[in-house]
Amino acid sequence: MKPNVDYVPDRDVDTEMDRALRELLTTCFTKKQDVVFRHRRYFVDPYPHRWVIRDPGGRLVAHVGVHEKCVVAADRVYRVGGIGEVCVHPDCRGRGYVKLMMNTIHEFLTEREFDFSILFGDHDVYGSSGYRPVSNLYVAEKPNAKPDERKAVTGLIRELGDRPWPETDVILLGNKF
Ligand SMILES: CC(C)(COP(=O)(O)OP(=O)(O)OC[C@H]1O[C@@H](n2cnc3c(N)ncnc32)[C@H](O)[C@@H]1OP(=O)(O)O)[C@@H](O)C(=O)NCCC(=O)NCCS
Repeated sequence: MKPNVDYVPDRDVDTEMDRALRELLTTCFTKKQDVVFRHRRYFVDPYPHRWVIRDPGGRLVAHVGVHEKCVVAADRVYRVGGIGEVCVHPDCRGRGYVKLMMNTIHEFLTEREFDFSILFGDHDVYGSSGYRPVSNLYVAEKPNAKPDERKAVTGLIRELGDRPWPETDVILLGNKF
C-alpha cells in the first residue's frame, strides 16, 4: 500500500517536528558538512515547504524540501521550485518514495504556476521523475552579479507547465540549495 505524502509548511513546524526532522536528516546525511542538521533543519537557507512520509508508527522516514526561487533568462523571470534535502531513511529505501514525493510536489508547484523545478543531484535518482541535466545554468549569489561572477552549475531541471526551458543562459538568483 502506498503511504501518504504529507505537506508540512515550515510555519507549522513545532519543537517536536523540528526534532524529528533533524533526526531524519542527521540519519540520512552523513558527510562532514551535514553536521549542520544536528542543530537546524535546513542545509544553507531555510525553505517554506516540505513533504514527508511517515511509517505506520508515525516516525518520519522520507523528506523533500522546496524553496521558492527565481531564474532569469533573456530578461524574463521564471518561478522555480528549488528541491533540496531529499532523503529516505535507510530502513525504507528502494520503495519508490522519491518519485511518490516528487509527483505530489510537481502537482503543488504546477497548480501555483511555477515554471520549473530544479535540483542538484544524481540523474539516476531523479531521471524517472522527469528531470534532465542542463548545461546553461549559472548561479548568481549577489543580486547584481556581473557575468564573470556567475558560477556555472550542473543542475537537473523539470518543466512543470507549457514553458520550455530557455536556450539562453539561465541565472539562478541567490544561493544554491
Ligand atoms: C538518494 C535516496 C533519497 C534514494 O532513496 P530511495 O528510497 O532508494 O529512492 P527510490 O526507491 O525512490 O528510488 C528512486 C530512484 O533512484 C534510484 N537510486 C536509488 N539509490 C540510488 C543510488 N545510490 N545510485 C543510483 N541510483 C539510485 C533508484 O533505482 C530509482 O530509480 P528508478 O526510479 O529509475 O527506478 C536515499 O538513498 C538517501 O536518502 N540517501 C542519502 C541522502 C542523499 O544522498 N540524498 C540525495 C541528495 S541529492
